[in-house]
Amino acid sequence: MALTVKTLTSLAQETTVASGFIRDEDERPKVAYNAFSDDIPVISLAGIDDMDGRREAIRNNIVEACENWGIFQVVDHGVDQKLLSDMTRLARDFFALPPQAKLRFDMSGGKRGGFIVSSHLQGESVQDWREIVTYFSYPIRERDYSRWPDTPEGWKAVTEEYSEKLMGLACKLLEVLSEAMGLEKEALTKACVDMDQKVVVNYYPICPQPDLTLGLKRHTDPGTITLLLQDQVGGLQATRDNGKSWITVQPVQGAFVVNLGDHGHFLSNGRFKNADHQAVVNSNYSRLSIATFQNPAPNAPMYPLKIREGEKPVLEEPITFAEMYRRKMSKDLEISRMKKLAK
Ligand code: SIN
Ligand code: FE2
Repeated sequence: MALTVKTLTSLAQETTVASGFIRDEDERPKVAYNAFSDDIPVISLAGIDDMDGRREAIRNNIVEACENWGIFQVVDHGVDQKLLSDMTRLARDFFALPPQAKLRFDMSGGKRGGFIVSSHLQGESVQDWREIVTYFSYPIRERDYSRWPDTPEGWKAVTEEYSEKLMGLACKLLEVLSEAMGLEKEALTKACVDMDQKVVVNYYPICPQPDLTLGLKRHTDPGTITLLLQDQVGGLQATRDNGKSWITVQPVQGAFVVNLGDHGHFLSNGRFKNADHQAVVNSNYSRLSIATFQNPAPNAPMYPLKIREGEKPVLEEPITFAEMYRRKMSKDLEISRMKKLAK
């Protein structure tokens, strides 16, 4: 049943969730969407370009957050707040469209970008409680505007500007992390060869039984770094104590949540964590989040850029990012298949 669901809007009005969304008990939420924790550091980037003590202080804060959590929030990041509110408003307007209007951009059948009721992995046995719109924005030559929604009016121009500004911010953060590794400031961006950017706009409708399901199941992001804009509802959760418990990230108005992905983790030889995270839903409010994934080019070779004294390399040999991604996805699908068989 679940795999034929075309939009979630109608299901949100039911009193129970369909069986295809029900998670095994060990995967279900342990902590409420609004039990906020302020443990995840919130770092001001004001003065990041000043080559004086301020840049160094920011770098130290970022490094500490990456070593302890692999996730932090940034404020004073220089991206115009009006652009953020325009982006959020237009995205909400898109998801409020009738199903037929959203399905004009239906992504099912392997199309590169568009709208879908999505799971973390297509083909998984249990679905996530979310709708998404996704588009590929960098490298620019790969933009396929036929897969970018043209409604609501003005969204294309706003999303283009948003993509450009977030590419700038991501590169700035990667500079600081490169310096923290004792490398030239372009080292991490160069290791991406020709950096890709993919934007996923997540809409999590109100859910009648949020304790049984997840908006987005537990995962690490595969790429280098992710910048997430979220509204004030809450639902993003990160792990602490090496995965033993969960916390709900406190939403901060106008901030970006930044998290390191697998590529960033491997390049730092495991020094920087790849944050384990998930999104939970609730029965009071729908939620919107916009994830901008900065990934290396598929053929970018992946190997630690810095192996510190006494450390062993976390990878035996260089592999391409595409190969790492393929292995990660087939492992996740296999786990999902085994769970299904065990039922
Ligand atoms: C993501 O992990 O891509 C999104 C998480 C969220 O919506 O909070
Ligand atoms: Fe993620």
